[in-house]
Parts: sequence; structure tokens; C-alpha cells
Amino acid sequence: MILVTGGCGYIGSHTSVELLSEGEDIVVLDNLSNSHINVVKRIELLADKKLRFVHGDVSDESCLRSLFENYDISSVIHFAGWKVVFDSLHSPLDYYDNNVAATLNLLKIMNEFNCKKIVFSSSASVYGDSSKVPICEDSIVSPVTPYARSKVFIEHILRDIVRSDDQWSALVLRYFNPVGAHVSGLIGEDLSITPNSLMQRVAEVALGYRKTLEVFGCNYPTSDGTGVRDYIHVVDLAKGHLAASNLINNHNGFECLNLGTGCGYSVLDLVQAFEKASGRHISCTFTERREGDVAVCYANPERAQKMLGWEANYGLGRICEDAWRWYTNNPIGYKDIK
Ligand code: WQD
Repeated sequence: MILVTGGCGYIGSHTSVELLSEGEDIVVLDNLSNSHINVVKRIELLADKKLRFVHGDVSDESCLRSLFENYDISSVIHFAGWKVVFDSLHSPLDYYDNNVAATLNLLKIMNEFNCKKIVFSSSASVYGDSSKVPICEDSIVSPVTPYARSKVFIEHILRDIVRSDDQWSALVLRYFNPVGAHVSGLIGEDLSITPNSLMQRVAEVALGYRKTLEVFGCNYPTSDGTGVRDYIHVVDLAKGHLAASNLINNHNGFECLNLGTGCGYSVLDLVQAFEKASGRHISCTFTERREGDVAVCYANPERAQKMLGWEANYGLGRICEDAWRWYTNNPIGYKDIK
């Protein structure tokens, strides 16, 4: 059985649907700090299966221990963690406690129950302002925020565990920019939970919740002066996790893989694609750069393609169409599910 921590979150819920739909036996642990109990129903609806759900926290040792006593966990996909870069700059201690200390707790219990296979949700933000794009896994890691450093610390902890015990297997997946939503419009990124990303802010303007999109900086060394990112459809990302959970069963050692499309798009590219998909005008106001932002960040996804037999399929147009369907079907996120 696979334990999916944070399995009701944005990426976790899409991955839980893919795993269940492929016949995998999973149990989700989520403290719902970054999600909503109604996601459980949506996952079950999409997978047409009951979901084993435990409402609890990775940092709660007794909760984790009883979960491992009740279920025969063979591997873990570890999503649970906070991911708002801006918040991490202002509450680093909370971020290190919630991300790093909680993961240490998980790894100790896994070791105690001889469960030594983990897929870890890392982030392209570990690369910082990487001089060389597209970014390969052996690029210099130079995190510039506490959020990104929390991911680097955990990656090092995993390297050290694997080095100390060859029974361990750790697959670190470095996501670029997850966006979009399941084609059904039933699951997606809840506006009320993580309102800081570009896609969320663009959606708020399209829905009329926000007058204008603040574009953070228009003097970057890019085609139109705005930041460039690798926007990957969340379902492509979920399928990458399915491939990783298959690989890990016959894998020992430590591996880092970039999960991205290999294409970089600017802020204005995404705005234009969203206007096309939604038929709404997105008014933009150009402001100063945002602390912690890098100019250009997009992946070289070849290693993941080779090792996982996986690649991203969806482009910006489909991403924006699926995102708009989710936002219009759920204008206040999961709160309004009858
Ligand atoms: C994208 C671009 C902004 C908002 C972060 C994390 C990363 C991952 C994704 C978890 C940048 C610009 C944004 C706005 C803007 N997190 N922007 N106006 O910062 O690239 O990555 O989220 O998986 O780990 O680091 O994503 O969507 O915040 O920004 O102009 O209101 O949009 O400057 O160029 P980011 P983002």
C-alpha cells in the first residue's frame, strides 16, 4: 500500500486520482491545513473508488505510528508541506518546522517499520537564479528562500539515509510550476488556500475578484521583460508521480528528477493564453520585482523522460482551458460543494 501524505492538496489530490484509477492501493494522510475535507469526495467521484483517508499530521508521531500499524505501507509519496515562498521569507522557523522537522519524523517512523521507499515532492526553486537554462539535475543548487532551502535540507537528509543503508530508495521530484486542473473541473487549486501564484492571481482578475494583475517586474532579460517559467499541467505532474511510484518498487539509491515541460513562458505569454481560454480581458499593472523571484527557470526534462518513460503532454492552451473550467465551476474553491 502507498501512503500519500498531503494527498488532498493540489498536486496530491490529482496524484491520488491517477494512482487509484490505475488500481493502486493507497491511504491518504492530510491535516487539511492546505486543503479541504470535500476533496475526499471529489477524489472518490473521479476514481470511482472509496478513498482511505486519515485526518492527521506528519509531525504527529503517534498518528503516524498507528497509521503504519494499521496499514502495510510499502512506499510513501510525500507531498505534505507548505509551499508559499513569500510566507517562508517572513516565517522561516514555521517553514523549517513544518517542512523539515515533520519529514524527519516521517522518515524515522518509516525506518522503524522497515518502509524504505520514498518519492519526495521537491521544487525547481532549489536551483535559485540558475545561470544556465534549460536546467539539468546536476545544475548548481543555490536556493534563495527558506521555502527552497527547506527542500534542499530534506534532499540532503534523503541522500544521507540512502548512503547509510542500501535498502533505501529515494526519488526526489523537482517540480517546475504546477498549474491547471483536472479536465472534469472537479479538482484544482483552491483560490482561498494558495492565492499567491501567477495563475491564481490571473484567475482572480478573470473572475472579477481583482481589478488588475500586478506584473512583478518588466525589466528581466527575457523576450518581453517579464519572468519566464516552465508551466506544467498538474495532471502531467500527477502522471509523473505514478511513473515514479512504479519505478521505486524496483529501485535502490538516490535520484533527482526534473518534472517540467522543457518550455519557458513569460508572464505575458500566460496572460495571453488565459485571455484566449476564458474570453476575459486581464488588465495588467507593471510593478517592482518580487523578493525571491528569479528571472528565468525552465527544465531540461530528459532524465525524467529516460528514467520514468514519462513526459509532459499538455501545453499552455490546454492548461488555461482546464484551469478556467475549474475556476468557473468552483468560484470559491471547495467550500461550496453541496
Ligand atoms: C510565476 C511568475 C512572478 C504572481 C513558486 C515556487 C515554486 C512552485 C511554484 C510549489 C514569476 C510572476 C506572479 C503575480 C506576477 N511552488 N507573478 N504577478 O514564484 O515561479 O514559483 O510557485 O510547487 O517552488 O517557487 O511561481 O506563480 O508565484 O510566479 O508577475 O501576481 O509570475 O514574478 O515571474 P514561482 P509564481
